[in-house]
Amino acid sequence: MTDLDPRALRTAFGRFMTGVTVVTTRTPDGTLCGFTANSFSSVSLDPPLLLVCPGKFLSTFQSFADCSRFAVNVLAEGQEDVSNTFASFKGDRFAQVPNTLDAHGIPLIDGAIAQFSCTTWQSLPAGDHQILIGEVTEFTQSETPGLGYAGGQYFSLGLERAVLDQTFDKTVCGALIAYDDTVFLEETPDGFRPPQVDLKDRGRLRLDLQEALLLRGCDLDLGAAYSVFDDAGRRTHHAYFLATSKGAPGTGMQAVPSRDLPTLTYTTPAIAEMMARYSLEARSRSFGLYLGDAKRGDVHSLTERT
Ligand SMILES: Cc1cc2nc3c(=O)[nH]c(=O)nc-3n(C[C@H](O)[C@H](O)[C@H](O)COP(=O)(O)O)c2cc1C
Repeated sequence: MTDLDPRALRTAFGRFMTGVTVVTTRTPDGTLCGFTANSFSSVSLDPPLLLVCPGKFLSTFQSFADCSRFAVNVLAEGQEDVSNTFASFKGDRFAQVPNTLDAHGIPLIDGAIAQFSCTTWQSLPAGDHQILIGEVTEFTQSETPGLGYAGGQYFSLGLERAVLDQTFDKTVCGALIAYDDTVFLEETPDGFRPPQVDLKDRGRLRLDLQEALLLRGCDLDLGAAYSVFDDAGRRTHHAYFLATSKGAPGTGMQAVPSRDLPTLTYTTPAIAEMMARYSLEARSRSFGLYLGDAKRGDVHSLTERT
């Protein structure tokens, strides 16, 4: 017996961030067994070994301790329900979760980002668990982000990165405002740029932009989105719309002849590139929509007249 508080120890072990796997096997009478495990580890490349630790508390413990073959399935982000099913569902777990049998009749979980079919290399008792070492005979893997587990909770690196990418400090929203053969621009110490405003609510960009420009005395018809990109360096999301003005330029804006657009200095390379594309496309009034970041992206065809 140990003097250590097992609950505190379990919490301390849980500080280690892991992925989540489902370990499966088939008993000699053909019954399929599976449980969720984060005790998985790779062990050796030559021979190709991995391990997982089934606990003695499992209703299927003996089936895993004695098995000659088993499989380890590394779950993908979004497969929390699969993990929960194989951790606590008391009925037929395999009827709940799409799966496919491997060449040896062991279930593989569909959508797992890696699947390892193994023969048992060694099965060692270790306290209240068994160390089940498998020799990998076949495996699959994909680029999809995995499901994470830490401190008793699931997490998703892929999704968290995507959210981080979106938590830019501000959204800059601007308009390429055409009026006769001119475009309205603002001049700043760093160069020219389309009239723009800093906005907070990404759900009302068009409305807020139109109102802000009207306050500056520019009454316009806002058209299609023209360029949407993230500038990671400046932690800024940018959205520019095509527009036509109903009258003279607003405060702080000047009407620049369209033919002069390629000759100007702009505030950033991304804006310079957008204005070069605009001056080309304005000739045929056949515009595309740019989606990407400040350096790379795609122009999607969009024939739109404003
Ligand atoms: C994220 C997570 C990781 C787990 N890791 C293990 C593990 O490594 N070994 C283990 O024996 N049980 C582990 N469990 C618990 C078992 O999945 C759970 O006790 C088992 O599915 C119960 O099955 P049973 O109803 O057949 O006894 C884990 C559970 C979760 C949610």
